[in-house]
Amino acid sequence: MRIIRDLRLMQGTAIKWRGIGKSVALVPTMGALHDGHLNLIKTARKKADIMVVSIYVNPSQFGPSEDLANYPRPFTKDSALCRKAGVDVIFNPLNLYAPDHSTWVTEESISQGRCGDSRPGHFRGVATVVTKLFNLIQPTYAYFGWKDAQQVGVVQRLVRDLNLATKVIPIETVRDRDGLALSSRNQYLSPQDREYALALPLLLHAAVLQRNPVKWLSRYLEKSPGIRVDYVELAQGRLCAAIWVGKTRLIDNIPCP
Ligand code: PAJ
Repeated sequence: MRIIRDLRLMQGTAIKWRGIGKSVALVPTMGALHDGHLNLIKTARKKADIMVVSIYVNPSQFGPSEDLANYPRPFTKDSALCRKAGVDVIFNPLNLYAPDHSTWVTEESISQGRCGDSRPGHFRGVATVVTKLFNLIQPTYAYFGWKDAQQVGVVQRLVRDLNLATKVIPIETVRDRDGLALSSRNQYLSPQDREYALALPLLLHAAVLQRNPVKWLSRYLEKSPGIRVDYVELAQGRLCAAIWVGKTRLIDNIPCP
């Protein structure tokens, strides 16, 4: 397994792969890898000749009051996990932005509402960094988790609208045994907070069986102790919700027929 940090070396290597007809699968991450990431990596591994994981905590998708500085960066552990999962290359740049960076990729439809409202500028940061990663790594396939459904939608739209030569493959959410969707942010939850947070997956799964899932879910989430509702919405064929548990914001969604 190679670790590439240099941008030009990454792009040069990718161009060589393309030249000899190799297919490339990319799983973009911000590190702190858990079984949700590893499931994407396992699925991607089977699909392509070369498997790349990018690990880069992208500053431009964090708001001023968000957890950029404290975001976990356990690189040694992450690289051991990647090696075990059969990853060929970890792309781990120190910085992807020139000091006078002034070009942004803005998706103007899917990124409105839901997390776009609560996190202004977030999807502009995501769309920009994903475009940069696709240009540097030139993946045939890129894997994203449905856990971040709106992100999936934004990336699919970006690839279509800008004619990028990458196929986006979304993969279903991996959950802990108690039902909570795996997320690097779960580690901020106290045992009590975690109890409160469990209302989110439990009520989501019950809500999709109701006649009016959005109304039902909003009503029961509002009644749940220890949480504050950010939004409940039906979008992309999925019932989506975000809640606050103390200072931690959690999102989840499941298919809703
Ligand atoms: P990150 O939060 O590290 O997530 C990397 C990928 O793992 C995303 O596609 C995310 O949806 C997926 N993922 C996270 N938790 C998951 C779970 N429980 N089950 C399945 N997939 C899960 O999302 C990002 O990083 C960034 O925005 C990024 C796309 C890397 C751009 O910076």
